[in-house]
Amino acid sequence: MGSADMNSLHDWPEPIVRVQSLSDTSLTEIPDRYIKPPTERPSIYAPDAAINIPIIDLGGLNGDSKLRRKTLDQISKACREWGFFQILNHGVSHELMRRTREVWRGFFNLPPVVKQGYANSPKTYEGYGSRLGVQKGAKLDWSDYYYLHYLPLCLKDLEKWPAHPSSCRDDTEEYGDQLLKLCGRLMKVLSLNLGLEEDYLQNSFGGENVGTCMRINFYPKCPQPNLTLGLSSHSDPGGMTLLLPDDHVAGLQVRSGDNWITIQPAPDAFIVNIGDQIQVLSNAIYKSVEHRVIVNSGNERMSLAFFYNPKSDLVIKPAQELVTDERPSLYQPMTFDEYRLSIRTRGPQGKTLKSS
Ligand code: OGA
Ligand code: NI
Repeated sequence: MGSADMNSLHDWPEPIVRVQSLSDTSLTEIPDRYIKPPTERPSIYAPDAAINIPIIDLGGLNGDSKLRRKTLDQISKACREWGFFQILNHGVSHELMRRTREVWRGFFNLPPVVKQGYANSPKTYEGYGSRLGVQKGAKLDWSDYYYLHYLPLCLKDLEKWPAHPSSCRDDTEEYGDQLLKLCGRLMKVLSLNLGLEEDYLQNSFGGENVGTCMRINFYPKCPQPNLTLGLSSHSDPGGMTLLLPDDHVAGLQVRSGDNWITIQPAPDAFIVNIGDQIQVLSNAIYKSVEHRVIVNSGNERMSLAFFYNPKSDLVIKPAQELVTDERPSLYQPMTFDEYRLSIRTRGPQGKTLKSS
């Protein structure tokens, strides 16, 4: 598409249709806007349930030196080979995870008119949304979402978070707080595993001035799940993502070569994935891997994605220590603001960053 100027980001190019409202009518065929070209549709082949991303027990980081070494190595391998892994014993309260998930399920179950009060625009994306990208006539994904800023504090606006269910703001704050701490721990591990100073990645992200935001994804039931996607293929543009998947319904798929692997979520685990900014900082030693979401006719699905990002006006480029004659710098320095603007204008469309 042509480059969208800032003005075109002030509103959606077409009236917004809530996918949940489509799903609630007894449609047997989905509107053409949601039908993907044949090459992008979910594979008709049954997924191989035996393949899954690594599941890593973070408790090992506090074990004896041998166990700690083994755990660091598992994480290192997962970041290099998969860009995705699940973590157990991550320190976040399971009760809080369940509570936050349920409070957001409660939000999506509110009457349409209440949710509509939080309708978002492409200017900041905060609030209740049903599309990403502002390309007129674009194919759409089979999902609604809620997007909110957590950090920096100057962007955190509780008035833009749902007032209902009544504990939504409190639970979401507590949840964000715990995930922020967990991300801080993971950043140290990732730095050490790259042979960098423990604080390297955190400092590159602006130290305490990191940006974090959340997207609660809601994937309604779909009468023709083989023709569409809940979320088109993309890589996460930010630093690192912690995903709390639905506790009953699978749907997230990760690209592995030409195949798509359906992740089987482990109970009470988070799914961690490397985003584009850490791929850049690591000079592509760590991979920000393409993923997408499939939907189904029997069950709705919900997920909470917590995005941990560099301070938006800092220039991100490969760490000097990871640039050598044999491995020259793969990326041009760019701020996250610049990067994100280009992604948001396009909507989710595969991956742009080169990988080697
Ligand atoms: C995302 C994402 C996956 C999911 O929000 O970026 O990839 O399972 N979500 O909802
Ligand atoms: Ni994603």
